[in-house]
Amino acid sequence: MTTPADTALLPAHFRTELRTDVTRGLTASPKRLPPRWLYDPLGSELFEQITQLPEYPYTRAERSILAQCSPAVAALTGARTVIELGSGSSEKTRILLDALGEHHTQLTYAPVDVSASALAQAVAALRADYPHLTTVPLVADFTTGLALPPLPGPRLLAFLGGTFGNLLPGERAVFLRSLRSRLDPGDRLLIGVGLVKDPDRIRAAYDDAAGVTAAFNLNVLTMLNRELQAEFDLSAFEHVALWDAANDWIEMRLRSRREQTVVLHGLGLHVFFAPGEDLRTEISAKFRPRRLAEEMSQAGLQVSHWFTDPDQLYGLALVARDDEPAPPAR
Ligand code: SAH
Ligand code: AVI
Repeated sequence: MTTPADTALLPAHFRTELRTDVTRGLTASPKRLPPRWLYDPLGSELFEQITQLPEYPYTRAERSILAQCSPAVAALTGARTVIELGSGSSEKTRILLDALGEHHTQLTYAPVDVSASALAQAVAALRADYPHLTTVPLVADFTTGLALPPLPGPRLLAFLGGTFGNLLPGERAVFLRSLRSRLDPGDRLLIGVGLVKDPDRIRAAYDDAAGVTAAFNLNVLTMLNRELQAEFDLSAFEHVALWDAANDWIEMRLRSRREQTVVLHGLGLHVFFAPGEDLRTEISAKFRPRRLAEEMSQAGLQVSHWFTDPDQLYGLALVARDDEPAPPAR
């Protein structure tokens, strides 16, 4: 017989957080779940497929910017350690590691991710291809008590892929302040964000023709069925991507196709959905350069360098503490 313990994939310390998030989020109005729960092993794989989609430009844009700016970032930071938050496959980070390797032979890389499967795959591939790199992986949530490992400085915090935009504005402020309090002089942050552009293009990036983003979104229900013995019928929910022009963010939602009550046995919870009722599973904020600089400044940080692609789809900001002499932003 299959028991929940046989099928559950989450480590024990994440289970408590899942139970709290799901109880809160599914009894709230409107219903919501934090986006970190999208990344079970299949979710992480589906995200990698999203990065290859013709409609999803952000990964390609970030890769091309990194190819251009990494030598400058390496020279400006002289980093001996890269700590990457939400590292996923770590694939683009190799461009940065290669550039830093031109300055230091002894580099340390600490990828931090909630997805143990993505982290394990990334680290195995890196150890094979970068035998001299010291790799210190950490399965952790960067929003709760981010403790930066005390690794050799100067340290470069990489927050790539636009994952910063998956945090709500209040969460971003808390996150940046917490980060600021842990940065030593000389440490830098390299942060990537999608930029505000044509809404139709942004919407298409989150509702692709092949349905990969829909599968990524719906997979969160499969995860709840597995981890919390829930009875979500995936065919009773529809993937929706909405552009919120007032907030400059896209929302991924799961819309109930009919009236239904879903049982989550693991929580002893019955959740009623009206027809057309939405469960928000992610926001993905897009930024204007000035607003990003303001958010940094409110957290005691300053943007020293700004790199973007010719289509201005994506930007990478190099950020320092605001009490350090830094060249003016450009
Ligand atoms: N940086 C990679 C992956 C982006 S996908 C890239 O640019 O391609 C977002 C990654 O962040 C996923 O691997 C996901 O598991 C991780 N993630 C999401 N929320 C997280 C959190 N709160 N703490 C740690 N990792 C998180
Ligand atoms: C990881 N994160 C920045 C992606 C994004 O674009 O917000 C996740 C994603 N959601 C749907 N497609 C991709």
